[in-house]
Amino acid sequence: MATRRPFFCGNWKLNGTIAESLALATDVRNGVATLRGADVVVAPSFTALHAVAKRLEDGAVAIAAQNCHFEDKGAFTGEVSASQLADVGCKYVILGHSERRQLFGELDAAVNLKARAALRAGLAPIICVGETLAERDAGETLGRIQAQLDAAIADIADADLSRCLVAYEPVWAIGTGRTASPAQAQEVHAHIRASVARRSAGVAASLRILYGGSMKPDNVRALMAEADVDGGLVGGASLQAESFARMVKEGS
Ligand code: PGA
Repeated sequence: MATRRPFFCGNWKLNGTIAESLALATDVRNGVATLRGADVVVAPSFTALHAVAKRLEDGAVAIAAQNCHFEDKGAFTGEVSASQLADVGCKYVILGHSERRQLFGELDAAVNLKARAALRAGLAPIICVGETLAERDAGETLGRIQAQLDAAIADIADADLSRCLVAYEPVWAIGTGRTASPAQAQEVHAHIRASVARRSAGVAASLRILYGGSMKPDNVRALMAEADVDGGLVGGASLQAESFARMVKEGS
């Protein structure tokens, strides 16, 4: 099996002035400065991207955006394109986060268009999938994940797919303090990898599949011990540099 480098992305969501984001970014960079075993990424709000990208331009910590539009330019008031994100210094973009799906009506087809736009612009998409508690209780978890994944990566060539990451984020675990057990995460991660392997064994072997949903310094080790958990997409625990850096350390 390919050795996959651990990957941790802090999703700051709708938090932070420019000054607060710069302070957090600086503390994250300093906190992980001696850690060499993982890729570390932060995802500030759009308004702070430029300043944070400048602050982190030595490259030790990379920048992600939290969303993008699927057109490159035009009459799309209020939207930001993937090429604009690349221009500002982003390397990654989080797509299809459950908050976007649930609160802003984002559909599977839009996630696919956005992923393709991101790849065109040279960004690596972090594609989020996840089931609700009702879907889990109804035994529909793997079917739901499969449908979201199939839609998101449709018409993406294997060479481009090899630049994508997938984040499994059970909706019931996001911001709730309730984490999927390592076994629950592993079941879904293994399913995602097996599904990608039906298209390309090589891409599947190197695909980094992140877990998201109340990941913390004290549960990261057990999650990362699972064969198909390659890192984390971290919300709440990424808003304090000390806990985020500790998580990266514990998990890599
Ligand atoms: P959480 O959020 O770590 O606060 O649960 C994760 C996410 O939404 O990416």
